[in-house]
Amino acid sequence: MSTLEITNLHKEFVDVYTGETVTAVGDVSFGIEQGEFVSILGPSGCGKTTVLNIVAGFDTQTSGTVHVDGRAVDGPSPERGVVFQSFALFPWKTVLGNVIFGLRMRGVPRRERDVIAQQYLQLVGLEGFERKFPHELSGGMQQRLGVARVLANEPAVMLMDEPFASVDAQTRRKLQEELTGIFETKRPTVFFVTHDVDEAVFLADRVVVLSARPSRVSEIVTVPLERPRQWRAALDSAEFRHTVTYLTDLLAGDEPGVPADVDRA
Ligand SMILES: Nc1ncnc2c1ncn2[C@@H]1O[C@H](COP(=O)(O)OP(=O)(O)OP(=O)(O)O)[C@@H](O)[C@H]1O
Ligand SMILES: [Mg+2]
Repeated sequence: MSTLEITNLHKEFVDVYTGETVTAVGDVSFGIEQGEFVSILGPSGCGKTTVLNIVAGFDTQTSGTVHVDGRAVDGPSPERGVVFQSFALFPWKTVLGNVIFGLRMRGVPRRERDVIAQQYLQLVGLEGFERKFPHELSGGMQQRLGVARVLANEPAVMLMDEPFASVDAQTRRKLQEELTGIFETKRPTVFFVTHDVDEAVFLADRVVVLSARPSRVSEIVTVPLERPRQWRAALDSAEFRHTVTYLTDLLAGDEPGVPADVDRA
């Protein structure tokens, strides 16, 4: 069994004003292996955030199941750390205080949590900023702090919902490269939501493609790229370009040319 197993997930919302039912997630099933990076790619409004919220335990499904390490999800837990688009840092706590918070909640002794926090701040390139407050950091630095805070808890699954959507294109590429570096060092299990095809391919081991609402898994594509990854090399690589073209066609509803290593879902 995979570390994260999503089976026949289905979610309906009822509009409180009209009483109408909206099916956000039709029937979604897929798994993520331990230490695997999976991008969840799909058109806007197809239910990606809804699936992530259910996996995080922030929302409940109408039917279907989510298991992490064989246990059914029944609420939020530090074993499923979330990096939000809006960072969700504590503005009144320092950089160090933000990273230490989860460790303290888990009862990690003080000396140990300082060492762990320093290690993760170094990993994301924020050493020297321990005493700063979030508002004193750039958007990209806040995002890296969000990553460090989640990683410091060593979650079974790290959930990320378009975490780089609000930074400029240049910074985004840098953060994406840094995230692949962190992933290669720490090998967390990652569930990464995006509607950016390049980003999905650059980061992931596999890309789960969701159809428009009510969403289903239309295909799961294995990314044929070596690690470590760098944008320069990726853009020069025919495999990268083929995979991006294939997924772009798929999202556009065209009949794509089939590359060598595509697993039909
Ligand atoms: N709390 C809610 N109440 C009612 N409808 C909702 C709620 N949350 C989401 N929806 C609906 O469910 C559908 C899926 O929304 P969701 O936010 O999961 O999409 P998404 O794939 O994350 O989109 P995007 O790429 O734009 O972030 C949409 O039609 C949305 O309007
Ligand atoms: Mg969303």
